[in-house]
Amino acid sequence: MTHHVQRNIRYNFEFDRKLRACFIGAGGHSYRNVYPALRYAPVDLVGVCDLDQSRADKFAKLFGASRGWSDHRRMLAEEKPDLVFIVTAYTPNGHVQATGLALEALAAGAHVWMEKPTAATLAEIEELQAASAKAGRLVMTGLKKSFFPTIEKLKDLIGSPDFGKLTSIAVRYPQSLPAPAERGELVRMQSFLDHIYHPAAILNFLGGPIERASYDWEPTTGATFTNFRFKSGAIGSLHCAAGQSGSSLLERVEIVGEGSNAIVENGSKLTWYRRAELPAYGRAASFIQSDDKAALVYEPEHSLGQLYNNNLFYLGYVPEILHLTDAILDGAPLTKGTLEVAHEIMKLFDFYRTAEAGVTVAL
Ligand SMILES: NC(=O)c1ccc[n+]([C@@H]2O[C@H](COP(=O)([O-])OP(=O)(O)OC[C@H]3O[C@@H](n4cnc5c(N)ncnc54)[C@H](O)[C@@H]3O)[C@@H](O)[C@H]2O)c1
Repeated sequence: MTHHVQRNIRYNFEFDRKLRACFIGAGGHSYRNVYPALRYAPVDLVGVCDLDQSRADKFAKLFGASRGWSDHRRMLAEEKPDLVFIVTAYTPNGHVQATGLALEALAAGAHVWMEKPTAATLAEIEELQAASAKAGRLVMTGLKKSFFPTIEKLKDLIGSPDFGKLTSIAVRYPQSLPAPAERGELVRMQSFLDHIYHPAAILNFLGGPIERASYDWEPTTGATFTNFRFKSGAIGSLHCAAGQSGSSLLERVEIVGEGSNAIVENGSKLTWYRRAELPAYGRAASFIQSDDKAALVYEPEHSLGQLYNNNLFYLGYVPEILHLTDAILDGAPLTKGTLEVAHEIMKLFDFYRTAEAGVTVAL
């Protein structure tokens, strides 16, 4: 299966077949990144709901829905959508508002596209899995990192003859883990839950399920360094670099194969070091390799008003929606952002909540 596919994008009004869609949540992230992505998806946005009716009305007008609502139950009952987008926040006790809303959307017969986090506990993911199976409707979480063109390209390198299998992986991402005594409280863990989905989505997409893990924790910043062994036999690390500068690039991913490695920096720059010998040690006068062994570098140009250099695309926001609409309309396989992947991510969240630093734990 090829993960990185160069596809030509259609504009919303060019699709022959469209899904009737409702949207729950008219907040900041959805305004910036999700409603605008619908301009490139086969959806007919009919209803927008927010607890704040005036925001729902304004979003509806701006993004072309016929009506704003403040009660999602009434909207689901009256609009009868095929697909519901849910981009909401947290309950006062630290649970995820979208989890219960997704259950209601499924019960109303709709497919669900939701933002991460899918839920706050493993049991809630299992409840969603059961409800999705019972309703015969799909639930997808927007795990955007697994839709970055650069990360998809890394996935395609893994297992290719020119790269070999994945032997090790290192992911760096800034995130603080609270002190051990606070980890039992979901409210204290909200930021960690909110963000662990991002690096965990990359680790799962590229490395597959984790077999065991151990971490160390730094109390000044809450930074962690975690070692993993994947079920595939590959090994890896997650460096949650809390304490870094706000002016710094956020993330870095490196995969190592068999004689070859590749690095994604800043989400959008990929360098693939193809198989090459080290130039003669102590003798080689030049570092230039022959062209067939030279590193390949991919980075978007930022001159043309293209789709690929727009963050709706290189951060995966449009592709993650098309992944679900392709599955609903064309029966294409749903492989990313599935509840099974969310289940794996929740296991990792539970590991950080409950495991003691320095102790290796089976996941
Ligand atoms: N993938 C990403 O890049 C990314 C980035 C930022 C945020 N997010 C995720 O997006 C989500 C929302 O973030 P945000 O910053 O937009 O939050 P926000 O608080 O600005 O917006 C949430 C909105 O949901 C509404 N809402 C809550 N319950 C509702 C209900 N029952 N019916 C109708 N409306 C309801 C609220 O009124 C609010 O307007 C979070 O899950 C966050 O993790 C993802």
